[in-house]
Amino acid sequence: MSKISVLFVCLGNICRSPAAEAIFINLLEKKGLTDDFIVDSAGTGSWHIGKKADSRMRNAAEIRDIQILSRARQISDKDFEDFNYIITMDNSNYENVIHLKKKKSLSEFALIRKLQDFRSIFKDEEVPDPYFGGDEGFNYVLDILEDSVGGFLENIS
Ligand code: 4NP
Repeated sequence: MSKISVLFVCLGNICRSPAAEAIFINLLEKKGLTDDFIVDSAGTGSWHIGKKADSRMRNAAEIRDIQILSRARQISDKDFEDFNYIITMDNSNYENVIHLKKKKSLSEFALIRKLQDFRSIFKDEEVPDPYFGGDEGFNYVLDILEDSVGGFLENIS
């Protein structure tokens, strides 16, 4: 069986999408599905390339026994042909990814979806950007991500 590849995308790739990636990896481990998937994350912006995830997000995740290990990178043209799924965190990320694909006539291979399409408990239609807010925002984002990432896995498996 070929692996299913998933790329989580936000703006900076230091808060929401690396957390979504880590939560998804954690869930796959719990379900014994690690070997069936390739998981990565990226940002539409380039400001934080090479950086670790925001320490506030890493700390909030650590309390839940989730390690965020990724380094920020920007989404690339090749991602559109390499990944089965490109999963965006908010409407702006979604529009940016769709715009990038159209503008550069990139591969139609990746299925581009909004993570909140897979929510069940939370009503939020977007994963809110916690970057400019307080610590509680990071915890709230993790709650939302645990809900929707679980829904996403159920939807595709
Ligand atoms: P993220 O959060 O998109 O969830 O990684 C942000 C991180 C950095 C910035 C904005 C959002 N920034 O403006 O630098």
